[in-house]
Amino acid sequence: MKLAQRLTLKQLRAIVAVADTASFTQAARLLHLTQPAVSMQIKELESLVGQVLVDGRREIRLTAAGEVLVRRARDALVALDVAEVELKSMLGVAAGTLEVVAITTAEYFVPHLLAEFGRRHPDIKFRLTVENRDRVHALLQEKRADLAIMGQPPSGLALRRIPFYPHRLSFVARPDHPMATRRNIPPSALAGERLLLRERGSGTRTNLERFLRAHGIKPLAADELGSNETLKQAVMAGMGIAFLSHHTFAMEVESGRLVRLDVADTPVIREWNVLVHADRPLTPALEALLDFLQSDGATMMRAMSD
Ligand code: PGA
Repeated sequence: MKLAQRLTLKQLRAIVAVADTASFTQAARLLHLTQPAVSMQIKELESLVGQVLVDGRREIRLTAAGEVLVRRARDALVALDVAEVELKSMLGVAAGTLEVVAITTAEYFVPHLLAEFGRRHPDIKFRLTVENRDRVHALLQEKRADLAIMGQPPSGLALRRIPFYPHRLSFVARPDHPMATRRNIPPSALAGERLLLRERGSGTRTNLERFLRAHGIKPLAADELGSNETLKQAVMAGMGIAFLSHHTFAMEVESGRLVRLDVADTPVIREWNVLVHADRPLTPALEALLDFLQSDGATMMRAMSD
């Protein structure tokens, strides 16, 4: 008998969850099952296939056979998700749960937008996660996110990009910094400064590197500190200056704890984008969120930023 006639969706979900989490315990949590139940599903699957699929000797890893099966199992599960979307669309109801992922810097505004969207569409539920670039990429690739909000889109994925608001980035310093009151500071003046950087790969960091390259600047010193919050605290502590998204420092500038430096050619203006899968139909719920972000969402962004 053919494999497709014997295996079950439960077994496929189990092996995909084990592949995603590299752990039977985590997979069980994800599937709301017990750990022995997940092990049992994998054992049954292995006996149906007649090959070892998960190598659990030291760490949990798929065998070559496991990789093949998981790749096809993902396709099958995605096909069923698409079917669900199509069926719901036939009813034309904007309801269901949206999985939204936002890049770290977007956490300063996405909750405000989703709160308003939620008030207008009480039947649409959403789960919001805020992740770094690698995780956003992984969630989109594994189709575990319906929609992503980020600046620079990830490469190598079939995504539809919808720009919805300009993204401004500038240099900030402590109010007692010698450049704080200067006007039209030439970018070359940054060469004498100590720059505090976001982690490698962050959109903010990439934009800064592009700016420095374009102006031929090598800063005096550059320290990598990580998150937006750490950078702001370090700037306030007098460690140096930082290049950040306006969303991250609006409150500190307003309260006088940070100053936006008037460096020529800044703010750097990029775009905030909504990304959806190009190969998946839009549910009415997703369509409602896209419409909201492009219209009222953009108006809210204007009211929240400078
Ligand atoms: P970041 O992303 O939080 O990684 O800097 C911002 C962006 O995507 O532009």
